[in-house]
Amino acid sequence: MIIHEGLFITPIEIHKINLFKEGLISKELNELLEKSVKDNIGPKNYKTNLKGKMTNYYFWNIHTSNLFKIIKNLLDKYFLNKVDLECKDIWGGIYNKGDYATPHLHLPSLLSWVYYVKCENKNSGLTFHNRYNSNNHNVEMLNIQPKTGDLIIFPSYILHSVKEEKNDKERIIIAGNCNNKDIKKSSLN
Ligand SMILES: [Fe+2]
Repeated sequence: MIIHEGLFITPIEIHKINLFKEGLISKELNELLEKSVKDNIGPKNYKTNLKGKMTNYYFWNIHTSNLFKIIKNLLDKYFLNKVDLECKDIWGGIYNKGDYATPHLHLPSLLSWVYYVKCENKNSGLTFHNRYNSNNHNVEMLNIQPKTGDLIIFPSYILHSVKEEKNDKERIIIAGNCNNKDIKKSSLN
């Protein structure tokens, strides 16, 4: 699903795709991803914008690589297969009751994504913020409610946050940032 909302001055695309519905991910891989995040999570860290528990920012292993193989095609479609994307930053996060993420951007990356390993309707969603003046033609913020298996793809420059988790059930994510591998080929010639 591509969500077009009047959030910004120029239209932007936020893609939301459920990998289970699309038959792209197995329950087994999702379970391995959940275990992998839990096995690699650090203590609650207040130094980053994610006020919850996190892995490090190079959370690559056989399971996250298998996830990335699945979503690479979906990421490539965002730029109509015209940009050779690479993903180096990848991290896992667990939000428990009281955890949240302050508004932040993922610049200087180009494209960002979040995969919801575990998320219920009652868990906090992902909120995108309009950094410019809202008026009759656009809105101040847009909240997307993800569920387990959803992948959300968005431009890295969009300000976003996660509201304080009110639910007793944990919310587990794996996220990443992509860049243009062939940035030197970009030219105005
Ligand atoms: Fe983020």
